[in-house]
Amino acid sequence: CGIVGYVGPQDARDVVLEGLRRLEYRGYDSAGIAVVADGELTSAKKAGKLANLEKVLAEQPLPEATVGIGHTRWATHGGPTDRNAHPHLSEDGAVAVVHNGIIENFASLRSELEAAGVEFGSETDTEVAAHLLAAAYARTPAGEGRLAESMRLVCSRLEGAFTLVATAAAEPDTLVAARRSSPLVVGVGDGEYFLGSDVAAFIGHTRDALELGQDQVVELHRTRGVTVTDFAGAAVEPTAYSVDWDAAAAEKGGYDWFMLKEIAEQPQAVADTLLGRLGPAGELVLDEVRLSDQELRDVDKIFVVACGTAYHAGMIAKYAIEHWTRIPVEVELASEFRYRDPVLDRSTLVIVISQSGETMDTLMALRHAKEQKARILAICNANGSTIPRESDAVLYTHAGPEVAVASTKGFLTQVVACYLVGLFLAQVRGVKYADEVGAIVENLRKLPEHIATVLDEMEPVRELARNLADENTLLFLGRHVGFPVALEGALKLKELAYIHAEGFAAGELKHGSIALIDQGTPVVVVVPSPVSRGSVHGKVVSNIQEVRARGARTIVIAEDGDDDVVPYADHLIRVPRTPTLLAPVVTTVPLQVLACEIASARGLDVDQPRNLAKSVTVE
Ligand code: G6P
Repeated sequence: CGIVGYVGPQDARDVVLEGLRRLEYRGYDSAGIAVVADGELTSAKKAGKLANLEKVLAEQPLPEATVGIGHTRWATHGGPTDRNAHPHLSEDGAVAVVHNGIIENFASLRSELEAAGVEFGSETDTEVAAHLLAAAYARTPAGEGRLAESMRLVCSRLEGAFTLVATAAAEPDTLVAARRSSPLVVGVGDGEYFLGSDVAAFIGHTRDALELGQDQVVELHRTRGVTVTDFAGAAVEPTAYSVDWDAAAAEKGGYDWFMLKEIAEQPQAVADTLLGRLGPAGELVLDEVRLSDQELRDVDKIFVVACGTAYHAGMIAKYAIEHWTRIPVEVELASEFRYRDPVLDRSTLVIVISQSGETMDTLMALRHAKEQKARILAICNANGSTIPRESDAVLYTHAGPEVAVASTKGFLTQVVACYLVGLFLAQVRGVKYADEVGAIVENLRKLPEHIATVLDEMEPVRELARNLADENTLLFLGRHVGFPVALEGALKLKELAYIHAEGFAAGELKHGSIALIDQGTPVVVVVPSPVSRGSVHGKVVSNIQEVRARGARTIVIAEDGDDDVVPYADHLIRVPRTPTLLAPVVTTVPLQVLACEIASARGLDVDQPRNLAKSVTVE
């Protein structure tokens, strides 16, 4: 979900709505806003995308106000209806709250409140917080810090993960928020304050931000300023930082979709990931990785833990890091990791990959690994987010804001960051890889240019996409690092076009799934470089023939100059020559374009696919 709050001299209605527009990628099942004007709280909320709420507000505007809160929802408890949309107001209209996360003990709290005569208007867990807050507010003496004190009382009763933002009808100058394990950042302007699930909510207004820690409550007051405490009320000093993304980076800039813009930004994004990290003699310069050389030398096992697209980056990392360092690497879905009791100790390095830095499954896996004394290295895009803050070290991808729900530049830069980590580990540990590494570093530098070349040749892919728009199934095959690319290609198509798609290890297909192939079934094959080590290239060419012999229509992604595939390719997509381990950075790009164009051709919302959210902050 996306959360926004504002207090200051501007019209809160506009600031909150603008913030919601920028955070809509975090959830778009419903949206709502509440403001305080003339001692009264008024709200508007509507199921569906933000545009529905905007329509309601155009017909029945809320009053002009100095304080407001807003929410854009990804439903957990209770369906995406008007009633379940946030904000939730207390029965007496004294307070309003918006919430992100899950209040795990909400059922018992709800029974307790109902027994006391409270009538609930929704099925959400959030409403519990609104009623509890109203009761606490009624008990707390009027005066400075009343709303914050009430919030602390409420938080002490809640279990689970939550960010809560509240306003009170009697306090037109105050905004209060609390956080436990869910994201929240504070923006500090000149006599005005902003709250957001991430900085995109307010980068149009200020670059000055404050990080909040876990289990903290913040009060923002127009004249008293910022006061942060823990849940017990002890004062805490927040950490200030400056946001390096500019507002324009979070705009579509002439593209139809954010996703198209973000695909086009990939050469620059990858260049930014590499920037300053490759020394003149090909050495890796990763001073920001705050793990000592000794700690890195002691590593005897690596886990890579992530979700969704980031998990696919982790699979690629396994191939590269094991090869360069000879350290065993396991890749694991974050949502499975801690529940199967993995074997971890001080000499285990856990690499957590997360674009947003807020994915709850990944955060919980990180915390589990920390409890087991493992070293944690985060690969992350969002500065100041929770995952890097709780890690021992962080390598930022510097991809700039990614708004489209389906990750593109986020993914490519994660893959590149994984290469950097692998090469750095090899460098520190002195593994004998010198001849290969020089070439790899040189080729890393060429990646932005290669991606740009692929992007220049995308018209035939767009045409093919329009032609495939009515298919019901697409299969994706790859071997070695081409396998995670196949998985990523299939995921992109599922999430954007709602077409059944599956990625397979090309060699595994014959062990069962090849039965899926029928006359005309489109099969995308990611072919490794013909100069790759071993005979993987030849094996993949055989796999293309196997599927073709069974009626498949083959869409082949192969390197320039690879003539072996020509006789078996119904459609051939060329990519520049790249060493095998680095190839995913170029071969993924046509698959992104394919999925994006198929979704467009089907008339779907590319940036905000159904049922999804950019940053999933529940487990
Ligand atoms: C969500 C998004 C996916 C993303 C995954 C991990 O499910 O819809 O696109 O890959 O989270 O996100 P992260 O921010 O941790 O990389």
